[in-house]
Amino acid sequence: MTEDELVDYWSSQMLWAIGATPMAVLLLAPDGGVAFANDPARRLAAQLDPAPADEARLLHRLLALVPDTAWDAACGAGHWSGDVHTMAGLTVEVGVYCGRGEHEGRRFVTFNDVSARSARERELQQRHDELERTYKRLAGAQEQLLQSEKMASIGQLAAGVAHEINNPIGYVHSNLGTLREYVASLFAMIEAYGTAIASPDPAAHRDELRAQREKLDIDFILGDLPQLLDESREGIERVTRIVQDLKEFSHVGRNETMRPADLVKGLESTLNIVWNDLKYKAKVEKIYGDMPAVECHASEINQVFMNLLINAGQAIAERGVITLACGVDGEEAWVSVADTGCGIPEETLGRIFDPFYTTKPIGRGTGLGLAISYRIVEKHHGRIEVESRLGQGTTFRVVLPVRQPTA
Ligand SMILES: Nc1ncnc2c1ncn2[C@@H]1O[C@H](COP(=O)(O)OP(=O)(O)O)[C@@H](O)[C@H]1O
Ligand SMILES: [Mg+2]
Repeated sequence: MTEDELVDYWSSQMLWAIGATPMAVLLLAPDGGVAFANDPARRLAAQLDPAPADEARLLHRLLALVPDTAWDAACGAGHWSGDVHTMAGLTVEVGVYCGRGEHEGRRFVTFNDVSARSARERELQQRHDELERTYKRLAGAQEQLLQSEKMASIGQLAAGVAHEINNPIGYVHSNLGTLREYVASLFAMIEAYGTAIASPDPAAHRDELRAQREKLDIDFILGDLPQLLDESREGIERVTRIVQDLKEFSHVGRNETMRPADLVKGLESTLNIVWNDLKYKAKVEKIYGDMPAVECHASEINQVFMNLLINAGQAIAERGVITLACGVDGEEAWVSVADTGCGIPEETLGRIFDPFYTTKPIGRGTGLGLAISYRIVEKHHGRIEVESRLGQGTTFRVVLPVRQPTA
């Protein structure tokens, strides 16, 4: 082949290739006009404006999609590409090519209709946004559930706590009545002594004073009075403690950072709160090992303890033992609540942490206690272990890292 023949051959090859590609291509003349447009370019141009117009004008309109800044960028770097949104609602990926060196002055533009892709992307983005919104709503609802379960359990407990408070208040009140009588007797006695001392012959009043002392029961009063005071003080302290426990228990501190806390103290104050539900049924035994302070949200962990204690009490039909234990194992601390109650059949052991799974009658069980406990412990990077024997009892063990892993 001669050189001319070769050039002809390659030119026709290239025009054929440009004609055959599904991408719209415009080759530009040195004056910037359209020198050649392939079929896809013509079709795309026609889509831009459904009103009939002559082809040269349509192609010009297609070329006008290229932003002015794209030309400068392409002349500098040789190439520019970007997405352009048309008036007809299409999204077109535009590529601008400017020749350099021996190809200086040569330019061509490619167009790729990516409307379908970008619609898919938009849809994906929408779904993603929706999922995110749903997730946030769900997280909010879960948080609310957590709070309302806690409030519901507090409601259940309130009656018991009221009784627990009423009792000491009752005897403090009656003690005050007795104390008032005692004080009256003591004043009367002091008065009698005073009169005797003021008389010319105090010794003459000895028998009379002795008789009055006996009549007023002063010796008994002197013995009983310190005891009454101690008892009353104890009663008041007990009320104070219950109120404090309740306050600590219901403390909402979810957004606070975790702090080192004394888990045994938490377990004990929670036990105080639920004591009224347990005392007639269960003897409580304690086997406490050494415990480091454990980094946690104490009020949330108390809620876990409360769920476990109430479940243990409910598992015991008549009389039984609840054993509380704690200890440390390497980097982990644990607290266990064991009961000698009904136990859990092996086939349902896998379901007890499911929300709303309950074997208790309506009003007694919500099926949320363990689900919420699980979530709380999981949030603390810990775990809850269960061991149960049907008819013999169940042990729940809460295992928490002493220090939370750093984010
Ligand atoms: N200590 C336990 N002994 C026996 N069964 C238990 C014990 N703790 C939990 N369960 C079982 O797990 C179920 C779910 O417990 P929980 O989530 O606290 O809900 P609820 O106590 O409201 O039923 C209980 O209904 C019970 O069947
Ligand atoms: Mg429960």
